Amino acid sequence: NSNRPNADISHVYRGTFIHSTQQTALQILEDTLLGVDTDGKIAFIEKGAELNQLSQIFGFNPSEVTQLAQHELFMPGLVDTHIHAPQYCYAGTALDMPLLQWLNTYTFPVESRFKDLEFAHRVYTQVVQRTLRNGTTTACYFATIHTDASLLLGQIANDFGQRALVGKVCMDRNNSVKHYKETNQESQEETCRFIAELLNKKYPLVRPVVTPRFAPSCTGALLGQLGAIAKNNNLHIQSHISENVEEVKLVKELFPESESYTDVYHKYNLLTDKTVMAHGCYLTDAELALFRETGASLSHCPNSNISLCSGMLDVRNVLKHKVKLGLGTDVAGGYSASMLDAVRRALDTSKVLTIQDPEYETLTFEEVFRLATLGGSHALSLDDQTGNFEVGKDFDALRVNVAAAGGPIDMIQCEGPKVILEKFLNLGDDRNIAEVFVAGRKVVPFSPSLNIASIS
Ligand code: GUN
Ligand code: FE
Repeated sequence: NSNRPNADISHVYRGTFIHSTQQTALQILEDTLLGVDTDGKIAFIEKGAELNQLSQIFGFNPSEVTQLAQHELFMPGLVDTHIHAPQYCYAGTALDMPLLQWLNTYTFPVESRFKDLEFAHRVYTQVVQRTLRNGTTTACYFATIHTDASLLLGQIANDFGQRALVGKVCMDRNNSVKHYKETNQESQEETCRFIAELLNKKYPLVRPVVTPRFAPSCTGALLGQLGAIAKNNNLHIQSHISENVEEVKLVKELFPESESYTDVYHKYNLLTDKTVMAHGCYLTDAELALFRETGASLSHCPNSNISLCSGMLDVRNVLKHKVKLGLGTDVAGGYSASMLDAVRRALDTSKVLTIQDPEYETLTFEEVFRLATLGGSHALSLDDQTGNFEVGKDFDALRVNVAAAGGPIDMIQCEGPKVILEKFLNLGDDRNIAEVFVAGRKVVPFSPSLNIASIS
């Protein structure tokens, strides 16, 4: 723990902090002091008993420390490593088809509407607000093929203070839906325009992601061009992989020269240590080894995997292969925009695997907590900035209150912090998230100046 005594302190909190580290899935720090500097970074995290000493070193007034209540704790913000912002408008519906039919029937027609910037503004404001209220401090978004609407998503995330990776979707083949197509040239040019214009805005917490929708939507030529664009600009990459059996079969047919689905992306330089691929239910051990080798990560989207009857990711096997892994909501294949739901579905899926094979080592809630926080930030290569309460990282945090009046949790007696966290993960909702911070800035409750949700 190396403190930063030169930091200019803007806020100090005292209470219970729970987070994950490399070594331990659940580190509980009771009666702890955490100082946030004026850049929103964690300046110190120390035992409460050090108050007087710390206040002298850092020059803050001990009487201005914010004290948490018994039933409160701070945990790191949740990291949604895979969510489709436009699909939020039909979340909770249309879950009666397998993936490829679902895309053609529901997804592409809805996404085509995002050419309309006013519609995009409405939906994107709602999804950013909803995810922030649900405690998602970092989101890795797919937008649509429309560059200007995708830029708008970046602007809205920035305005509300969410840390975000935003991708303009690329797809130059197999799109049956009218008005939702782009040529190879358009896809390439608009990707470059998207990246240049988003970087030009200099939003501190929002970055562009190179986003081929998935191999069946892209020609080999486009995949190669996107791999080159990502490499030349050192950018993040996101896509989908091995989500459903039919899709895997289709990729075999479309890319007969490739050894595997993973090999398709690898060949076009799309597997890097800044790549995150959603799903991966049907990856072989050899493919997982290739993920490990390249440093690419996976996003586990359990609600979507069940809702579209896609499959069940064997998380234990992914972890055994030391592949970086986070959780994703995958709205609207996943019907919930809450990472708490993703935590629960991840546990459910692991338990179903255990029902099928009693020898299967079920995930613990501590492990899934880590996937939802530090694991996600690692999967997005943002773990140098966020994911836990290490000194020097940005303060991205949830102030959790399990005893919120009118909330879903009844505390019968005063419980310890581990029980409080477990209850919150299993039973809690946004009523138990009193405050959300991103890079030290309070983003929930929303600042009144941002109350633009009522545009209709
Ligand atoms: N594969 C390609 N596009 C999509 C999408 O929008 N959602 C899901 N779940 N899988 C995809
Ligand atoms: Fe997806």
